[in-house]
Amino acid sequence: MTPDRRSSALSVARSYVRRLRAVRLRGSQALHRRVGDAGRYWSDDSEIGWRANSHWRGGLPDPDWASVGSDHLAIFDTFAKALDLPRRPAIVIEWGCGGGANAVAFAPRCSHFIAADVSADSIAECIRQVGQVCDTPATGLLIDINDPHAATVGRENTCDVFLCVYVVELTAGPEEALRILDAAQHMLTDGGMALIQVKYHTTDPATRGHRRNYRRNLANMTTFAIDDFWIQAARHGLTPRLITLVPQNRLDVRYAYYALTKP
Ligand SMILES: C[S@@+](CC[C@H](N)C(=O)[O-])C[C@H]1O[C@@H](n2cnc3c(N)ncnc32)[C@H](O)[C@@H]1O
Repeated sequence: MTPDRRSSALSVARSYVRRLRAVRLRGSQALHRRVGDAGRYWSDDSEIGWRANSHWRGGLPDPDWASVGSDHLAIFDTFAKALDLPRRPAIVIEWGCGGGANAVAFAPRCSHFIAADVSADSIAECIRQVGQVCDTPATGLLIDINDPHAATVGRENTCDVFLCVYVVELTAGPEEALRILDAAQHMLTDGGMALIQVKYHTTDPATRGHRRNYRRNLANMTTFAIDDFWIQAARHGLTPRLITLVPQNRLDVRYAYYALTKP
């Protein structure tokens, strides 16, 4: 190795160690504290940036808001075609629907749209947005952030598509994120598809979920290694079928989309 290459390898190694130390120093807060902070944040629409973070029309600029639904409908179409599933599913639930950016793209395709969220305000706004674009009936489902399973009770095997995007990253930790897989497994019909988006981390420690300071880090609280979420989905009773990676979109970076079907 030439002296130049050795010194450049050393500086890469030093920077890696520095970032690893920084990540370690951040430490993590207890899960119950992070869940409490998350619950308080999403239930208070006066929080700074709340409308943008909840993806309300106007909170996000119009071209970004429109791209959310059109990008995800295109990914759904690709998955549905590859898996020979209907492109017009009967019942679609969106878990963490926010202000309806996906709902306005998916509701016109289905016969019933379920807008599920931890925020009653976002559910109402999502249903209002659906009403602006189609006659598809849309109903709300309020999720208790401390007990997401409760929202699924009595709804076993009722949904053909379970959509969840821009939500896993802002769950309080992987334990919370995996409860979303349980909800999907519970609510999907046999053969139904979950389309779930995850922010992935890489070998760079700085890309890992923060697990502290919810308000400051909310879009980077929970990340998964690409293969880990695939394996976790199988452990939670869903069959991983397809994956597509979006290293960067209009809003953020490092997204993996999974098509998971219920056996
Ligand atoms: C970034 S917005 C995404 C909205 C929509 N999915 C989209 O792509 O436009 C995140 C939404 O997830 C909701 N949310 C936050 N924590 C959640 C949780 N643990 N389970 C379900 N929804 C959650 C928030 O209230 C908010 O409406």
